[in-house]
Amino acid sequence: MRAAAIVPAAGRGERLGPGEPKALRDLAGQPLLAHAVRALAEARSVDVIVVAAPGGQESRVSRLLHLVAGDTELHVVTGGRTRQQSVALALQAIPDDIDVVLVHDAARPLVPDEVIDAVTSAVRAGADAVVPVVAVTDTIKQVDTAGRVEATVDRSHLRAAQTPQGFARIVLESAHRDAAEHGLEDASDDAGLVEHFGRPVMVIPGSEDGFKVTRPIDLLLAEAVLARRRSAGVH
Ligand code: CTP
Ligand code: MG
Repeated sequence: MRAAAIVPAAGRGERLGPGEPKALRDLAGQPLLAHAVRALAEARSVDVIVVAAPGGQESRVSRLLHLVAGDTELHVVTGGRTRQQSVALALQAIPDDIDVVLVHDAARPLVPDEVIDAVTSAVRAGADAVVPVVAVTDTIKQVDTAGRVEATVDRSHLRAAQTPQGFARIVLESAHRDAAEHGLEDASDDAGLVEHFGRPVMVIPGSEDGFKVTRPIDLLLAEAVLARRRSAGVH
Protein backbone atom coordinates (compact mmCIF):
# COMPACT_ATOMS: atom_id res chain seq x y z
CA MET A 1 0.00 0.00 0.00
CA ARG A 2 1.08 3.57 -0.66
CA ALA A 3 1.02 6.89 1.22
CA ALA A 4 -0.45 10.12 -0.13
CA ALA A 5 0.10 13.72 0.96
CA ILE A 6 -2.70 16.25 0.62
CA VAL A 7 -1.56 19.86 0.32
CA PRO A 8 -4.25 22.46 1.09
CA ALA A 9 -3.11 25.50 -0.92
CA ALA A 10 -6.35 27.33 -1.68
CA GLY A 11 -6.19 30.04 1.01
CA ARG A 12 -5.98 33.73 0.22
CA GLY A 13 -3.23 34.65 2.66
CA GLU A 14 -5.03 37.65 4.12
CA ARG A 15 -2.62 37.99 7.04
CA LEU A 16 0.30 38.17 4.62
CA GLY A 17 -1.25 41.27 3.02
CA PRO A 18 -2.45 42.06 -0.51
CA GLY A 19 -1.18 40.04 -3.47
CA GLU A 20 -1.49 36.60 -5.02
CA PRO A 21 -2.93 33.66 -3.06
CA LYS A 22 -0.36 32.82 -0.36
CA ALA A 23 0.65 29.45 -1.81
CA LEU A 24 1.76 31.24 -5.01
CA ARG A 25 3.80 34.00 -3.32
CA ASP A 26 7.49 33.99 -4.05
CA LEU A 27 10.09 32.60 -1.67
CA ALA A 28 13.65 32.81 -3.06
CA GLY A 29 12.51 32.51 -6.68
CA GLN A 30 9.79 29.87 -6.31
CA PRO A 31 6.23 29.86 -4.99
CA LEU A 32 5.77 28.67 -1.39
CA LEU A 33 3.73 25.74 -2.74
CA ALA A 34 6.59 24.55 -4.96
CA HIS A 35 8.91 24.41 -1.94
CA ALA A 36 6.35 22.42 0.07
CA VAL A 37 5.65 19.98 -2.77
CA ARG A 38 9.37 19.45 -3.43
CA ALA A 39 9.91 18.57 0.24
CA LEU A 40 7.07 16.01 0.10
CA ALA A 41 8.26 14.58 -3.22
CA GLU A 42 11.77 14.15 -1.86
CA ALA A 43 10.58 12.36 1.28
CA ARG A 44 10.98 8.61 0.83
CA SER A 45 7.62 7.77 2.36
CA VAL A 46 5.35 9.84 0.05
CA ASP A 47 4.12 8.17 -3.17
CA VAL A 48 1.28 10.46 -4.26
CA ILE A 49 0.65 14.21 -3.79
CA VAL A 50 -2.80 15.81 -4.12
CA VAL A 51 -2.85 19.62 -4.13
CA ALA A 52 -6.01 21.66 -3.45
CA ALA A 53 -5.34 24.76 -5.58
CA PRO A 54 -6.98 28.20 -5.57
CA GLY A 55 -9.95 28.25 -7.98
CA GLY A 56 -8.88 29.34 -11.47
CA GLN A 57 -5.20 28.50 -10.85
CA GLU A 58 -5.41 24.73 -11.38
CA SER A 59 -3.59 24.46 -14.71
CA ARG A 60 -0.90 26.97 -13.74
CA VAL A 61 -0.32 25.07 -10.47
CA SER A 62 -0.24 21.77 -12.29
CA ARG A 63 2.40 22.96 -14.79
CA LEU A 64 4.51 24.49 -12.06
CA LEU A 65 4.41 21.47 -9.78
CA HIS A 66 5.19 18.83 -12.39
CA LEU A 67 8.62 20.45 -12.55
CA VAL A 68 9.30 19.83 -8.85
CA ALA A 69 7.35 16.60 -8.18
CA GLY A 70 9.82 14.39 -10.09
CA ASP A 71 8.65 10.77 -10.14
CA THR A 72 6.01 11.32 -7.47
CA GLU A 73 2.43 10.97 -8.76
CA LEU A 74 0.74 14.39 -8.69
CA HIS A 75 -2.91 15.42 -8.81
CA VAL A 76 -4.35 18.93 -8.62
CA VAL A 77 -7.95 19.58 -7.56
CA THR A 78 -9.87 22.80 -6.91
CA GLY A 79 -9.84 23.82 -3.24
CA GLY A 80 -12.83 24.92 -1.17
CA ARG A 81 -14.00 27.91 0.87
CA THR A 82 -12.31 26.74 4.08
CA ARG A 83 -9.16 24.72 4.74
CA GLN A 84 -11.31 21.84 5.97
CA GLN A 85 -13.29 21.83 2.72
CA SER A 86 -10.09 21.96 0.66
CA VAL A 87 -8.80 18.86 2.48
CA ALA A 88 -12.15 17.07 2.06
CA LEU A 89 -12.12 17.77 -1.69
CA ALA A 90 -8.55 16.51 -2.05
CA LEU A 91 -9.42 13.36 -0.07
CA GLN A 92 -11.96 12.47 -2.76
CA ALA A 93 -9.16 12.44 -5.36
CA ILE A 94 -6.92 9.94 -3.54
CA PRO A 95 -6.25 6.66 -5.38
CA ASP A 96 -7.71 3.41 -3.98
CA ASP A 97 -4.39 1.81 -3.03
CA ILE A 98 -3.54 4.52 -0.45
CA ASP A 99 -3.75 3.52 3.22
CA VAL A 100 -1.85 6.40 4.89
CA VAL A 101 -2.72 10.05 4.29
CA LEU A 102 -0.63 13.04 5.35
CA VAL A 103 -2.02 16.58 5.27
CA HIS A 104 0.58 19.33 4.85
CA ASP A 105 0.02 23.10 4.62
CA ALA A 106 1.40 24.75 1.47
CA ALA A 107 2.28 27.55 3.88
CA ARG A 108 4.99 25.40 5.57
CA PRO A 109 7.56 25.37 2.76
CA LEU A 110 10.64 24.37 4.77
CA VAL A 111 9.50 21.21 6.54
CA PRO A 112 12.43 18.73 6.75
CA ASP A 113 11.94 15.35 5.06
CA GLU A 114 12.89 13.62 8.35
CA VAL A 115 9.70 14.98 9.92
CA ILE A 116 7.60 13.87 6.91
CA ASP A 117 9.01 10.34 7.05
CA ALA A 118 8.69 10.15 10.86
CA VAL A 119 4.99 11.03 10.64
CA THR A 120 4.37 8.33 8.01
CA SER A 121 6.32 5.78 10.07
CA ALA A 122 4.30 6.51 13.20
CA VAL A 123 1.05 5.87 11.28
CA ARG A 124 2.49 2.70 9.73
CA ALA A 125 3.45 1.60 13.26
CA GLY A 126 -0.23 1.71 14.22
CA ALA A 127 -1.21 5.25 15.26
CA ASP A 128 -4.62 6.52 14.05
CA ALA A 129 -3.45 10.13 13.93
CA VAL A 130 -0.03 11.77 14.37
CA VAL A 131 0.90 15.43 14.85
CA PRO A 132 4.43 16.90 14.86
CA VAL A 133 4.67 19.46 17.66
CA VAL A 134 7.11 21.96 19.14
CA ALA A 135 7.24 23.52 22.58
CA VAL A 136 5.55 26.87 23.08
CA THR A 137 8.18 29.49 23.87
CA ASP A 138 6.07 32.53 24.81
CA THR A 139 4.38 32.79 28.17
CA ILE A 140 0.66 32.37 27.42
CA LYS A 141 -2.01 34.52 29.08
CA GLN A 142 -5.68 33.62 29.15
CA VAL A 143 -7.67 36.87 28.95
CA ASP A 144 -11.33 37.92 29.15
CA THR A 145 -13.16 40.17 26.66
CA ALA A 146 -12.33 43.24 28.77
CA GLY A 147 -8.61 42.56 28.31
CA ARG A 148 -8.08 41.41 31.90
CA VAL A 149 -5.74 38.48 32.53
CA GLU A 150 -7.61 35.51 33.98
CA ALA A 151 -4.70 33.11 34.14
CA THR A 152 -1.11 32.44 33.12
CA VAL A 153 -1.32 29.04 31.48
CA ASP A 154 1.11 26.30 32.54
CA ARG A 155 3.31 26.08 29.46
CA SER A 156 4.77 22.69 30.26
CA HIS A 157 1.65 20.98 28.89
CA LEU A 158 1.29 23.15 25.77
CA ARG A 159 2.57 22.30 22.29
CA ALA A 160 2.22 24.12 18.97
CA ALA A 161 0.90 21.82 16.23
CA GLN A 162 2.62 21.64 12.85
CA THR A 163 2.09 19.67 9.66
CA PRO A 164 2.32 17.18 8.01
CA GLN A 165 -0.24 15.49 10.20
CA GLY A 166 -0.60 11.80 9.40
CA PHE A 167 -3.61 9.47 9.51
CA ALA A 168 -4.79 6.02 8.75
CA ARG A 169 -6.88 6.77 5.66
CA ILE A 170 -10.14 5.42 7.11
CA VAL A 171 -9.70 7.52 10.27
CA LEU A 172 -9.26 10.77 8.32
CA GLU A 173 -12.11 9.96 5.94
CA SER A 174 -14.52 9.17 8.74
CA ALA A 175 -13.52 12.30 10.72
CA HIS A 176 -14.21 14.48 7.66
CA ARG A 177 -17.50 12.66 6.98
CA ASP A 178 -18.63 13.06 10.61
CA ALA A 179 -17.59 16.73 10.60
CA ALA A 180 -19.62 17.45 7.46
CA GLU A 181 -22.65 15.62 8.93
CA HIS A 182 -22.39 17.73 12.10
CA GLY A 183 -22.13 20.99 10.16
CA LEU A 184 -18.50 21.58 11.17
CA GLU A 185 -16.71 23.26 8.29
CA ASP A 186 -13.98 25.48 9.63
CA ALA A 187 -11.59 23.29 11.62
CA SER A 188 -8.05 24.67 11.40
CA ASP A 189 -6.42 21.25 11.59
CA ASP A 190 -7.31 17.68 10.75
CA ALA A 191 -6.04 16.10 13.97
CA GLY A 192 -8.51 18.40 15.75
CA LEU A 193 -11.38 16.74 13.85
CA VAL A 194 -10.13 13.26 14.73
CA GLU A 195 -9.80 14.31 18.39
CA HIS A 196 -13.28 15.90 18.34
CA PHE A 197 -14.77 12.56 17.36
CA GLY A 198 -13.03 10.71 20.16
CA ARG A 199 -10.10 9.01 18.43
CA PRO A 200 -6.59 9.08 19.93
CA VAL A 201 -4.05 11.54 18.49
CA MET A 202 -0.31 11.02 19.09
CA VAL A 203 2.42 13.65 19.00
CA ILE A 204 6.00 13.33 17.75
CA PRO A 205 8.77 15.95 17.68
CA GLY A 206 8.34 18.55 14.94
CA SER A 207 11.03 20.97 13.77
CA GLU A 208 11.77 24.67 14.05
CA ASP A 209 11.91 24.75 10.24
CA GLY A 210 8.32 23.53 10.06
CA PHE A 211 6.92 26.95 10.95
CA LYS A 212 3.95 28.36 9.00
CA VAL A 213 4.34 31.43 6.81
CA THR A 214 1.47 33.55 8.06
CA ARG A 215 2.65 37.18 8.40
CA PRO A 216 5.18 39.19 6.39
CA ILE A 217 7.94 38.59 8.94
CA ASP A 218 7.58 34.83 8.44
CA LEU A 219 8.60 35.26 4.78
CA LEU A 220 11.77 37.06 5.88
CA LEU A 221 12.53 34.23 8.29
CA ALA A 222 11.94 31.65 5.55
CA GLU A 223 14.34 33.54 3.21
CA ALA A 224 16.96 33.50 5.97
CA VAL A 225 16.55 29.78 6.63
CA LEU A 226 16.90 29.04 2.91
CA ALA A 227 19.99 31.24 2.64
CA ARG A 228 21.56 29.36 5.57
CA ARG A 229 20.75 26.00 3.95
CA ARG A 230 22.17 27.11 0.61
CA SER A 231 25.40 28.31 2.14
CA ALA A 232 25.65 24.96 3.92
CA GLY A 233 25.18 23.19 0.57
CA VAL A 234 21.67 21.87 1.29
CA HIS A 235 18.79 23.20 -0.77
N1 CTP B 1 -6.22 26.72 2.82
C1 CTP B 1 -6.92 26.06 1.81
N2 CTP B 1 -8.22 26.44 1.52
C2 CTP B 1 -8.81 27.45 2.19
C3 CTP B 1 -8.09 28.14 3.23
C4 CTP B 1 -6.78 27.73 3.53
O1 CTP B 1 -6.42 25.14 1.18
N3 CTP B 1 -10.04 27.82 1.85
C5 CTP B 1 -4.81 26.34 3.06
C6 CTP B 1 -3.84 27.51 2.86
O2 CTP B 1 -3.55 27.66 1.46
C7 CTP B 1 -2.64 27.12 3.70
C8 CTP B 1 -3.25 26.23 4.80
O3 CTP B 1 -4.59 25.95 4.40
O4 CTP B 1 -1.69 26.36 2.98
C9 CTP B 1 -3.16 26.89 6.16
O5 CTP B 1 -4.00 28.04 6.17
P1 CTP B 1 -3.55 29.52 6.52
O6 CTP B 1 -2.14 29.57 6.97
O7 CTP B 1 -4.64 30.12 7.34
O8 CTP B 1 -3.54 30.17 5.04
P2 CTP B 1 -4.54 31.23 4.43
O9 CTP B 1 -5.94 30.86 4.77
O10 CTP B 1 -4.17 31.36 3.00
O11 CTP B 1 -4.10 32.58 5.18
P3 CTP B 1 -5.03 33.65 5.93
O12 CTP B 1 -5.79 32.87 6.98
O13 CTP B 1 -4.07 34.66 6.48
O14 CTP B 1 -5.94 34.22 4.85
MG1 MG C 1 -6.58 30.85 6.83
